[in-house]
Amino acid sequence: MNAHRNETKKSEELWQRACNVIMDGTQLYSKGPMIGVDGVYPKYLRKGKGSHVWDVDGNEFIDYTSGVGSVVLGYGYERVKDAISKQLEDGTNLGLIHPLEVEVAELICETIPCAEKVRFLKTGADATSAAARIMRAYTGRDLIIKGEYHGWHDWCMAASKRNAGIPETIHNSVIYAEYNDLKKLEELFLQYPDRIAGIIMEPVQLDPPEDNYLVKMKALCHEHGALLVFDEIVTGFRFDVAGAQKYFNVIPDMACFGKGIANGMPLSCVAGRREIFDRVQGRIFMSTTFGGEMLSLAAAKANILEIKEKNIVRDLWKKGEQLKEGANTIFRETGADLQCKGYPVRLLILSTYPDPRQDVLLRSLFLQEVVKRGVLMAWQMFPMYMHSEEDIRLTLDAFRQAAMICRNATDQNNVADRLEGKPVDWIEVL
Ligand SMILES: Cc1ncc(COP(=O)(O)O)c(C=O)c1O
Repeated sequence: MNAHRNETKKSEELWQRACNVIMDGTQLYSKGPMIGVDGVYPKYLRKGKGSHVWDVDGNEFIDYTSGVGSVVLGYGYERVKDAISKQLEDGTNLGLIHPLEVEVAELICETIPCAEKVRFLKTGADATSAAARIMRAYTGRDLIIKGEYHGWHDWCMAASKRNAGIPETIHNSVIYAEYNDLKKLEELFLQYPDRIAGIIMEPVQLDPPEDNYLVKMKALCHEHGALLVFDEIVTGFRFDVAGAQKYFNVIPDMACFGKGIANGMPLSCVAGRREIFDRVQGRIFMSTTFGGEMLSLAAAKANILEIKEKNIVRDLWKKGEQLKEGANTIFRETGADLQCKGYPVRLLILSTYPDPRQDVLLRSLFLQEVVKRGVLMAWQMFPMYMHSEEDIRLTLDAFRQAAMICRNATDQNNVADRLEGKPVDWIEVL
């Protein structure tokens, strides 16, 4: 990490320009300055190679943002890069269908347990919106129960706090249910008989399913004639090449994939039982110019084959376990009030404080000290195949130093004073 200088001048200049011409300054909330300590964190990355990234000021970092979870193998991974370059020679988007659409669809149907048919789209939000429309068209019902975040589109943000611009007529068409709260689901099915089209939920986030939650949720849906959709935008190709549905052995009616499908190229899909697609085909309209864009499909094919052939997922779990165990040992040994939680393929550093204000300050201090030591992470950490043993060793060294600073700060009761910028500001939008 010798190229790391903690300089953010160019980042700050770009941000000033961005705020003048880009609403919110960023296209994705989770790339914005609020995810780190504003003023200390870099705001703009220029390059990623392997497991490292470089910011516009020339600082180099070991990276765990992993393209906001979209990169499983690593940045510029050879096999995927070659597939994209080769495809580029033959065009990016032609006026008729390309064979890659068929090949990648077949590959997904061979790989993902629930997938008998698919539709390709571009973003995670596209895929969950498609699933919502299919659920409603299939059941002839209007209500959808949703989990946390499924993208920015009207059907799901209608249930959020930031729902300006979404017609009031649909505000009550989607209901939020907390993960693991089976009782709430049972109550909703009783409260709205024959009105619930289905549930869309991540198969897992941070905490494991309790008391057979996934199995019971599926049974509940089917008992009431509703569909179960897993939002596997984050878990897909990471928990298992066949998704978290394989890992937990609970096969939903449909599932949505995005992020990890093409090692950072823009592709998503909704996949599910043939009978569901066949029943709605011809009655719903889904059609988009770039749905068959070939660079992303070529990337997806190379990415999925590589993950399968090299058993990449096993490696991700191993690296994630090293990080999680290493971090928690360090927090114990230093007495820092921090913890590393989550599944090894999707980790989170939290404080041990129940008070969110205290929590955010200590977490911010930890992130600040880690980024100053050349390790870039946001609120989640995603291991990539190209993270090396050396990366993990250096990361844990940085964690130890940051944890000791956190411990001293809590001992001296001056956590807030030690922050060199604005603390992490994860605005609740849901
Ligand atoms: C679980 C989940 N679903 C859906 C989405 C939306 O994906 P996208 O940002 O590609 O539209 C996200 C994005 O972070 C997500 O985490």
